[in-house]
Amino acid sequence: MSSGTVTTEQFADRLMASALGAMDMLAIHLGDRLGWYRTLAEHGPVDAAELTEHAGGDTRYAREWLEQQAAAGILTVTPEHRFELPPSAAEVLTDPTSLSFLAPLARVLAAAAAKTPKLVHAYRNGGGVGWAEFGADMREAQSDMNRPWFEQRLAAELGTVDDIDDLLSRPGTRVADIGFGGGWSSIALARAYPSLVVDGFDIDEPSVAMAKRNATDAGLSERVRLHHADAATALGENLYDVVFAFECIHDLPRPVEVLAAMRRAVRPGGAVIVMDEAVAPDFRAPADDTDRFLYGISLLICLPDGRAHPDSAGTGTVMRQDTLRRYAQDAGFSDVEVLPIDDFGFWRFYRLT
Ligand SMILES: C[S@@+](CC[C@H](N)C(=O)[O-])C[C@H]1O[C@@H](n2cnc3c(N)ncnc32)[C@H](O)[C@@H]1O
Repeated sequence: MSSGTVTTEQFADRLMASALGAMDMLAIHLGDRLGWYRTLAEHGPVDAAELTEHAGGDTRYAREWLEQQAAAGILTVTPEHRFELPPSAAEVLTDPTSLSFLAPLARVLAAAAAKTPKLVHAYRNGGGVGWAEFGADMREAQSDMNRPWFEQRLAAELGTVDDIDDLLSRPGTRVADIGFGGGWSSIALARAYPSLVVDGFDIDEPSVAMAKRNATDAGLSERVRLHHADAATALGENLYDVVFAFECIHDLPRPVEVLAAMRRAVRPGGAVIVMDEAVAPDFRAPADDTDRFLYGISLLICLPDGRAHPDSAGTGTVMRQDTLRRYAQDAGFSDVEVLPIDDFGFWRFYRLT
């Protein structure tokens, strides 16, 4: 809906609908953090006293939350006035293995909203809000959001690209994973390809600690080696058969430096693969929901994160293919091609040639 073609009343209605959506997400954040959805999923219909008995919390607030959730159509109410989480909502809100798991998105938005004063300062004066400053909720939510895609779909989809599957399947194959976050991409690759050794590089120390715990819990700490290091300087030369960067190039203050390091790190005949946002080829207004969503994430998180560092390229989440091609060419690659992996969440896979 373009604002030029709507009445004042329609536009006000649209904003009211947006306010309801924003309130849904913040109320979902409360229920997620308090463990109330998990209790509802595990214990069935409850009233406020039963909810706080199982999960803790303040019963008066719990009653307001339960009623708000039912008023919003998320919970249903039994004839005995107890509240129930339908199975479809339970999957979206409590199942970390589901591709539809979206509770972490509420955490992402709440973590960004908590930084509003710093964001206003950055928008007024330049500079930014770095990844570490967004804090544990942001880092963990990013990891939780991407985990099911990596665990369930990454190897299966890469396996459909013949030469990549061949490279990953060879005995002794070495892979680099740039900006691994929670480590789920490295873990998924090591799990799917039993002789593969992954070296991960991430500049954020708490992410490295989180990913190491995840790799240890998965029993893969020998073959998933996670380094606290800047990928621009730590990769080495001619070492890897495949070098991956999953959803991080658009965040980097100096993407060309990291892409050049990835190019040097790959062995002849190897592959450099970037997974980044599946944005439209050009700016459009109004845009589709994917670009709208990604502009929102860019405003609140990725652009301020990238711009928190000096001499930043200031890319933002909406990194279009032409922008990646320009960065790749500046880093010494000749071109960028899109891999035939469709329908992979918000992402697209590029091969840098
Ligand atoms: C948006 S997160 C993506 C994490 C993960 N790949 C995923 O898909 O969930 C971007 C990650 O890149 C890391 N990062 C940023 N600059 C980096 C650099 N120069 N070298 C290595 N990692 C970097 C951040 O610490 C962060 O963990």
